[in-house]
Amino acid sequence: MCDGQAKVRRASQASWEAFIPSVYVSPGGPEPRAALPPHAVQQDGNSPGLHGTAQRLPRYAGVTALQGMQVRAVTRDLSKVEARRLPNVQFVKGDFDDLDSMRRVCSGMERAFLLTNSTERAEQQQIAFVKVARESGIRHIVKLSQLHADANSPGRFLRYHAAVEAAIRASGLTFTFLRPNLYMQGLLNFRHSIQQKSAFFAAAGEARISAVDVRDLADVAVAALTTSKRDNKIYSLTGPEALTFAGMARQLSAALDRTITFVDVPPEAMRGALADLGSPAWQVDGLLEEFAMYRRGEATEVQPGMQQALDRSPLSFAEFARDYAPLFA
Ligand SMILES: NC(=O)c1ccc[n+]([C@@H]2O[C@H](COP(=O)([O-])OP(=O)(O)OC[C@H]3O[C@@H](n4cnc5c(N)ncnc54)[C@H](OP(=O)(O)O)[C@@H]3O)[C@@H](O)[C@H]2O)c1
Repeated sequence: MCDGQAKVRRASQASWEAFIPSVYVSPGGPEPRAALPPHAVQQDGNSPGLHGTAQRLPRYAGVTALQGMQVRAVTRDLSKVEARRLPNVQFVKGDFDDLDSMRRVCSGMERAFLLTNSTERAEQQQIAFVKVARESGIRHIVKLSQLHADANSPGRFLRYHAAVEAAIRASGLTFTFLRPNLYMQGLLNFRHSIQQKSAFFAAAGEARISAVDVRDLADVAVAALTTSKRDNKIYSLTGPEALTFAGMARQLSAALDRTITFVDVPPEAMRGALADLGSPAWQVDGLLEEFAMYRRGEATEVQPGMQQALDRSPLSFAEFARDYAPLFA
């Protein structure tokens, strides 16, 4: 158990690292303007998070869709994005806790892609942003929400996402809500454990989860921001199959050509590991609520969101494992 906890600690350290800049808004003008979703792919075909590691990553539609557009990408720390070169993207500094910075970010823009990490303040930050965006002339918000967002959910993350969705609807702005299941790329949080011990640990039991590849989310977000076909639509986005963590481990094993093992741990062990990492209690409780939902089978269903949004199938876990194998090797 101690060994397991240690790995959960290491893995989770990474889970709170930044994804990629959080709000993407686009300037107005005669040409279609778009915002940039997380993990959009660079012009060279590599994900921004995968510099020089995943040469086999295919190109995604988002790259083409962004050509000829002007995009503003927001981060609190510009030094973190120095190495990220993305087509037509201007990185600018902004903070949800500094509404003047968000007014500057939104000035002259038409559409915004909205995400923050899940913290106690996320609901307040996002709702404040919606007001600023509306006052600044933003017409359309594409919000990264979560599968089964619901004001009455037992999961706090799902409740805050529902509250933000309600605020966007109430604002009268055009909206598109992306409601993804667990990210396949979340397994990258366990990469040190997988690299060093060929194992990863979580309180997932035998839960089957239709995890989604964030590259699919990127494509849907770009599509929502660059055409009007997805205006006022909600997309529940999952992968094409529901796998247990043990099943994901088997597919990673095949991609890496060595055995990777998933080790189930009790929720309290996960809680202790996350708390030891310094994760705030609100987030730890939220994550445990998520894993309890997984164990109840509430993230199992395969949803038709990708087909509805882009008329194509979602990426499979096998494709994720193949493309990201260099990061776990
Ligand atoms: N992980 C999953 O499996 C999963 C599944 C479904 C839905 N989601 C949803 O995806 C969203 C992202 O979650 P995550 O864990 O991936 O988040 P994250 O990567 O930890 O954070 C996302 C971004 O939020 C920005 N941010 C945080 N505080 C900010 C502030 N005060 N001002 C400006 N930007 C701020 C950070 O940008 P900078 O650091 O660059 O400033 C960071 O890049 C959440 O809403 C979550 O509910 C996640």
